[in-house]
Amino acid sequence: MSKGTVLITGSSKGLGRALALKFSKNNYSLILHGRNKGDLESVKKEVCKSGVECIVLAGDLKENKTIVRLAELVEQKEIDILINNAAIMSKALVEKIEDSEVDEVINSNLMSVIKLTKRIYSYFLTKKSGMIIQINSTGGLDTSIEHGVYAASKYGLKGFTDALRIEARPRGIRVLGVYPGGMRTTFHNRVGGKKDSDKAMDVEEVAEIIFNLVGYDSVHVKDIVLERMYR
Ligand SMILES: NC(=O)c1ccc[n+]([C@@H]2O[C@H](COP(=O)([O-])OP(=O)(O)OC[C@H]3O[C@@H](n4cnc5c(N)ncnc54)[C@H](OP(=O)(O)O)[C@@H]3O)[C@@H](O)[C@H]2O)c1
Repeated sequence: MSKGTVLITGSSKGLGRALALKFSKNNYSLILHGRNKGDLESVKKEVCKSGVECIVLAGDLKENKTIVRLAELVEQKEIDILINNAAIMSKALVEKIEDSEVDEVINSNLMSVIKLTKRIYSYFLTKKSGMIIQINSTGGLDTSIEHGVYAASKYGLKGFTDALRIEARPRGIRVLGVYPGGMRTTFHNRVGGKKDSDKAMDVEEVAEIIFNLVGYDSVHVKDIVLERMYR
């Protein structure tokens, strides 16, 4: 029997895919989401091997219609856990950042998360339970050169997460902030790759740690910082 249903945004690859496989192997049903339908269907094939229900919804989170469709599906399928994982990387000196890039990053990594969370949190309030897991970044706690817009999106997400938790916790809804360092995924390809990617964290290990933070009764896990072992 299914232990619950999880919506994971950005589960067509990387950490989202690893989380989907981890949760499905532990009897959670899934709603997979991303933009690339082909990638999502191949994750679905792997998830189905565990015998759990799996639904795919492809759509760009920057578009309101994707958020509305996801929120409708969430109520139909009575989900228990929302994992806001989808995001994009950005890297440029402040004087060189195009306005279109500012819009793309802030809309993808922050605005869409707030809009989707708002709807799903409202649904969780009706059933007085639920868990929201925000995949942030160590770049949402501390930043460096050329990360101005990415940092703005992830620091903004931290602020939203912290404020939401204050409202949600007394109403029976858990909010977990996850702050990982560099992971071995295609995340940095958009900005020309990353040095030392061989030293980055393995997504299966990161997914396992996140999975192990779910399902407690008397314990509330607030934030977790996952740094890579090798620098
Ligand atoms: N990798 C790292 O080093 C690292 C470090 C710290 C934090 N993180 C965080 O970890 C999370 C996962 O990153 P990852 O490394 O797994 O990245 P990834 O391999 O690039 O995967 C990103 C996922 O997000 C989806 N996505 C991005 N923008 C979207 C949009 N506008 N609409 C719908 N889906 C969208 C992608 O979908 P499609 O490919 O189907 O378009 C993909 O499934 C992110 O929140 C990231 O900030 C990553």
